[in-house]
Amino acid sequence: MIVTTSDLYKVAYKKFALGAYNINNLEQTNGLFAGCTQSKAPFIIQISKGARSYAHKKMLEAIIRTAEEIYPDSIFAVHLDHGDEASCYDCIDSGFYSSVMIDASHESFEENINITKRVVDRAHAAGVSVEAELGQLGGVEEDIKVDEKNACLTNPVEALEFIQKTGCDALAAAIGTSHGAYKFKGQQSLHFEVIEQIAKAVADAGLPPTPIVMHGSSSVPKEEVARINAAGGKLDPSACGVNLDEYLPAAKLGVTKINIDTDGRLVWTRVHREFFRDKPDQFDFRPPGKIFMKEYADFIASRNEKLGSAGKLDEVRESLSAAV
Ligand code: 13P
Repeated sequence: MIVTTSDLYKVAYKKFALGAYNINNLEQTNGLFAGCTQSKAPFIIQISKGARSYAHKKMLEAIIRTAEEIYPDSIFAVHLDHGDEASCYDCIDSGFYSSVMIDASHESFEENINITKRVVDRAHAAGVSVEAELGQLGGVEEDIKVDEKNACLTNPVEALEFIQKTGCDALAAAIGTSHGAYKFKGQQSLHFEVIEQIAKAVADAGLPPTPIVMHGSSSVPKEEVARINAAGGKLDPSACGVNLDEYLPAAKLGVTKINIDTDGRLVWTRVHREFFRDKPDQFDFRPPGKIFMKEYADFIASRNEKLGSAGKLDEVRESLSAAV
């Protein structure tokens, strides 16, 4: 069942975080639905602009609608990841997406507010939730590349003004993570104080709580990187991500959506590199595809345990039926 991210936030806020997983093809989609069904977790499917041009947007919609039929117990939101104004409007008008992210964080503060407000007005009129970004994460994600020296944490005072003026449903805040596989040099750390300060500023102003979204949340497991490199990869072994044991403490402070993409790509890379290293005479993509779908499902289920969303499906179902 497709619901809005706001429907899911109502149940999750300050209790657990929802996994927001990027998909590009049928293998990822199948593994994602299987993993969330197996762990009884609500979830958010993320579709980026890159995914929409890799697999045609209609192809992705058909795959997801079919997965929904195959896994009838699933409850999830369909979310545009890092949209611009045009792609947000395309998704809102499609009637398929239940949530969009407008990312105007590279614009001036005022322009970010203006653009976000326009998207919020159009999305809310169509019953679609909106995530907006303030502050800049470092790292590389598709066509977005931010130098670490230009990355900056979200300012809580600005965050309050931004939320008040835009009416966004969730705020993607820069709290120390970055996109991709190379997140931290030396000690890794999330800026929990920024999450607390934003939540306090919003509460002091008498506003309803605004869920915080953490982008760049992959953990980049060392053993995964080592296995990829042992099978012919050349990833920098200093690759490093977010400590999985920080997901739940962050969730208790108000981080309600946690974005994970890179870790899933690492699973794909490891499975395929090892398969073809060990079976160099093979050229059928289905055997490694089958292994990937199973491993990706297990990976998703294990992340949902860390996020606290595992086992929360019934609670979400009850909240949805109470709201009708
Ligand atoms: P990772 O690169 O850490 O997986 O982050 C993904 C993300 O934030 C998608 O918006």
